[in-house]
Amino acid sequence: MRIGVLTGGGDCPGLNHAIRGLVLRANQLGHEVVGFRDGWKGVLEGDTIPLGPAEVDGIHDVGGTMLGTSRTNVFKIDNGPEMVRDSLERLDVNALVGIGGEDTLGVLHKLSELGVPAVGCPKTVDNDLDATDFTIGFDTSINIATQAIDRLHTTARSHHRCMVVAIMGRHAGWLTWYSGIAGGAHAILLPEEPIDMDRLLEVVKARAGADGRGYSIIAVSEGAPLKEGEDMVLQDEGLDPFGHVKLGGIGKRLAKIIEERTGVETRTVVLGHLQRGGPPSALDRVLATQFGWYAAELVDRGEFGKMPAARSGTIEIVELAEAVGRLKVVDAERIRVSKGLWG
Ligand code: F6P
Repeated sequence: MRIGVLTGGGDCPGLNHAIRGLVLRANQLGHEVVGFRDGWKGVLEGDTIPLGPAEVDGIHDVGGTMLGTSRTNVFKIDNGPEMVRDSLERLDVNALVGIGGEDTLGVLHKLSELGVPAVGCPKTVDNDLDATDFTIGFDTSINIATQAIDRLHTTARSHHRCMVVAIMGRHAGWLTWYSGIAGGAHAILLPEEPIDMDRLLEVVKARAGADGRGYSIIAVSEGAPLKEGEDMVLQDEGLDPFGHVKLGGIGKRLAKIIEERTGVETRTVVLGHLQRGGPPSALDRVLATQFGWYAAELVDRGEFGKMPAARSGTIEIVELAEAVGRLKVVDAERIRVSKGLWG
């Protein structure tokens, strides 16, 4: 069989390990692999590179994706699905492996329903894909965010300031929940519920103390709404091909409110794409290798419309439909714990 693999959507550390796992296992099983450049763009344009054991050698500590990525949406392009089918036929590719998050796997799932032989691999630093406990990139990202918060403690303490740190996560607060707790943040604000402003201001004031010598660290998800029913705070106007807005504005808005209403000097740090860069953690490397490995085995068995998933410490095979049906958000019980840690 000839397998085509693509990485789509935002990049993340660990993608190369998934490609490597897929290529090595596919090779053992007697299949050839080609890589599509730049996500769905490469599939539509038939832009490929050969992928054998030699090509994936020595990439174990390299972040990003050796294939490149894009946010191209097949279903936003005239005759997109037909173009995909033609391209696969022309290149003699008989199975497609898509490594991606909700958008890329959403497209993959729709194509699979249209008869394209497709297998998925779950990745996203946001960890918001359903049907899997963890996605590729998440572990590295929480470690980067935790280290950043650790560093903010010392500068905030020295200056007796409040530091607001904006962490990635559009609709799900997993990154902020994990790194906020790990980094000992004094308030953790998630997209799952509106900010409790009165309590937040109380925390900042109480921690500053009567002499103003205390400090506080506020960890906020980029997608956290300021008020009930209010939209997310944008960095600027403009949508990507999947209709996503550009976030990152919440940190500045929140810092202004805190400073004005508490009198505590406040600064903002937007971690942004630092959370998606650099080498993957050991956990991400292993998880990604397993996902790639099992994706090759799914193709080999002709089990399409599925993906490997991390569940309760083991790898299970799930339907793509299960993964893309809804977003996995932080549950009420976890929120109770993170709110309990405020102060
Ligand atoms: O892929 C998920 C994500 O990292 C989000 O957390 C973030 O909002 C978004 O991507 C940023 O996208 P871009 O790389 O297109 O700016």
